[in-house]
Amino acid sequence: MRSLTPVPIAAVILLAGILPARAETDSNERSSKRDDIRLVTSGHDGGQSNNVDEHDDQDAATRGYEFLVGNALLPSDFDQEVFDSLWQSWPKELRQKAEAASLAERRTMAFRRYGLTPRPSSDVGGATSSSGDQSEPTPPDPGKPLQYVVDEEGRWTMNCFSCHGGSVYGTPTPGAPNNRFALQTLTEEVRRTKFRLGKSLGRMELGSLVVPLGTTHGTTNAVVFGQGLMHYRDDELNLVQRAPASFTHHDMDAPPWWHFYRRPYIYIDGFAPKGHRGLMQFALVPENDAEFFRDNEDAFRDVYAYLSSLRPPKYPLPVDAKLAESGRHLFKQNCAECHGTYGHESDAESIAAYPNRMISIDEIGTDPVRHQALSVAGREHYARSWFANASKVANSSKVANSSEAAEQKTITEPAGYVAPPLDGVWASAPYFHNGSVPTLWHVLNPKQRPTVWRRVADEIDAERIGLTIESVSRVPLEEPDVAIRRGYFDTRRFGKSAAGHDYPDALDEGEKRAVLEYLKTL
Ligand code: HEC
Ligand code: HEC
Repeated sequence: MRSLTPVPIAAVILLAGILPARAETDSNERSSKRDDIRLVTSGHDGGQSNNVDEHDDQDAATRGYEFLVGNALLPSDFDQEVFDSLWQSWPKELRQKAEAASLAERRTMAFRRYGLTPRPSSDVGGATSSSGDQSEPTPPDPGKPLQYVVDEEGRWTMNCFSCHGGSVYGTPTPGAPNNRFALQTLTEEVRRTKFRLGKSLGRMELGSLVVPLGTTHGTTNAVVFGQGLMHYRDDELNLVQRAPASFTHHDMDAPPWWHFYRRPYIYIDGFAPKGHRGLMQFALVPENDAEFFRDNEDAFRDVYAYLSSLRPPKYPLPVDAKLAESGRHLFKQNCAECHGTYGHESDAESIAAYPNRMISIDEIGTDPVRHQALSVAGREHYARSWFANASKVANSSKVANSSEAAEQKTITEPAGYVAPPLDGVWASAPYFHNGSVPTLWHVLNPKQRPTVWRRVADEIDAERIGLTIESVSRVPLEEPDVAIRRGYFDTRRFGKSAAGHDYPDALDEGEKRAVLEYLKTL
């Protein structure tokens, strides 16, 4: 069977609807407190020129990050007690290990199992003091995860970093795709734990009974979450009654945020013009009414500034400069027409050097499911909606950030996929929009891409640049731990093809090696 049966997302909404109304979390309070500081950056003219003081941009970016790690935008997912009890639903061997471990060790094990990371060490709110015994130095409590907001009451709520904040070969990095996030596994084990503790189930545990959250760790069905929830909104984002729709479930690998500043349009099919409002789709649960989006708009101007401020991490290992230089020439001849050029002096030059080129789906030949899954009607609805129309706001002094287009035009019938910028591409494995290709070497050697693979180490494969993997003939379905089974990527499954993008075949072995060396420097 190639295709999954589409499931009405209405079921999720209905299930979510029977949950107790969302307790007023402190997010509203905090966003009103934020209004005092907001005035600092309200002088944007929305025009082309970047006449905004750099400090203001910096402040806004800092506020944007703090907003994302500090404010729950959804009803909370579970509490600390549930998190600290998850180990009891693990497979026997792991459970026994957890039982013998300290609380801090157990938390570290849970972080590992679900693809959570500590917050970067420079992070102000990163470490929690509630871990108790300070005299026991090994191992330190991982503290609050980057991927969840944890409030004073110990309630955990997923944030953007669950998908957009991962570990770059051991270094927690906000904005890097989280290539270990185990949303389906976490949700199932939270459900079991809540049952055991007699706690009521939440949106995710109920929703996941009818909508798959992600079949391979590191990828999620995120696009369908947004689509499904948008179906029940009118153009102004008021909740409306509609007949249920069905959607094509497919997993995607989140893109890195550090090339956001270069892109005029976002998503793999580049259909959505970049804007601060569009960043709020994640909050489209029924508990958030139309007002919620207006109330949090300023905060998302800051989030936009934060995303725009990100730049890729630098490749940490030695680079053969001579080889990379010849790779640069080859890249220019063979790749730059689609992916642009790199190493510019200023942001403006970098932005101008990115062509934002859409390649038709037949020509690119990578997995077509994502392209087919979004309907024209769905994109048209997005185009008419509040998300896509920031420039129509009456209060024009606050229309947009300096880099937001004044005129936002949604592309309702994209021909295929847009070649993404490759800044920091060494750090964002696996590759292609569905995460089907584990290393850059495999991108460059289309015929040698593995059919079924799984990651076997945290370290970078420094030869092939990407995930350290093993290639196997099939997913071992007899493996009792679902978390291990979901670590395998099977490119024969629906939406998971690793085919296409054969352009590198124009290069010989030596040339490919040079291009690979050059890609490390981006
Ligand atoms: C459950 C996982 C998940 C969460 C949570 C999530 N995203 Fe994403 N995000 C994705 C995926 C997958 C894509 C790729 C979608 C596509 O290209 O069709 C994406 C794409 C994006 C893009 C486009 C990037 C580009 O270069 O094309 C932006 C910007 C973005 N997300 C911002 C956010 C923000 C802001 C939040 C939180 C408010 C958020 N996302 C929460 C999974 C997620
Ligand atoms: C005709 C346009 C075109 C050319 C030429 C081209 N690419 Fe691409 N490239 C794309 C598109 C479109 C994608 C996105 C495919 C997808 O995700 O399904 C892509 C994706 C990639 C990715 C994966 C990026 C990621 O973050 O997942 C890498 C790496 C890459 N290309 C490298 C190269 C190199 C190196 C060359 C030259 C040898 C090259 N490309 C030539 C269009 C092109």
